[in-house]
Amino acid sequence: MERGKFITIEGIEGVGKSTNMAALVTHIENAGHTVLTTREPGGTPLAEDIRELLKSRSDEPIPEIAELLLMFAARSLNVNNVILPALEAGTWIVSDRFTDSSRAYQGGGRGIPMDTIDRLADWVHGETWPDLTILLDAPVEIGMQRADTRGAPDRFEQERHDFFQRVRECYLQLAINDPERFVVIDTTQSLEEVRHEIREIAGVLLSNI
Ligand code: TMP
Repeated sequence: MERGKFITIEGIEGVGKSTNMAALVTHIENAGHTVLTTREPGGTPLAEDIRELLKSRSDEPIPEIAELLLMFAARSLNVNNVILPALEAGTWIVSDRFTDSSRAYQGGGRGIPMDTIDRLADWVHGETWPDLTILLDAPVEIGMQRADTRGAPDRFEQERHDFFQRVRECYLQLAINDPERFVVIDTTQSLEEVRHEIREIAGVLLSNI
């Protein structure tokens, strides 16, 4: 059985992850592959509970390291109970966020050293890294405007502009550091242009197998 491919979608809030992810999944399914979508934090019942804890506003201060460890606790559940079994069964995984989110938000945003995060990543999921990561990029103001239309802000959405600026810069740096794995799409282009890029990426991905 040929192993499935592991694809992740990344980006700050409001860059259009959900709609573009759906378009990508359709292309892969149309090529005859079985696709399972997941998200982080989340993806399993317990990991979804951790997501709720992480996203809800809390009166109790949450130290950065607690936030990071909860992200990786949820990730461990998702990797072991969903992602790995699916890949081994030949199913493709498309995940809304993965460890690059921890690097960008807890590393870039909160200032946790990158090697701490990478050691944790190595411990939690070892060799399991995405085959492809699509980084959807837009200036923070544009992302925040779009996210603002979605109702009451969660604990992350309450962060200030400069936090998201650091997150965005960190994402772009991650993409520069690993050009083999990352593709960056500028989502300030028209919907049609973004869709065209998604279609091209899917085409390259599907022709490489
Ligand atoms: P979202 O998936 O609806 O965007 O919400 C998830 C939030 O959690 C988002 O603000 C990014 C944040 N996050 C981290 O800070 N670190 C992580 O490792 C992950 C997966 C998400």
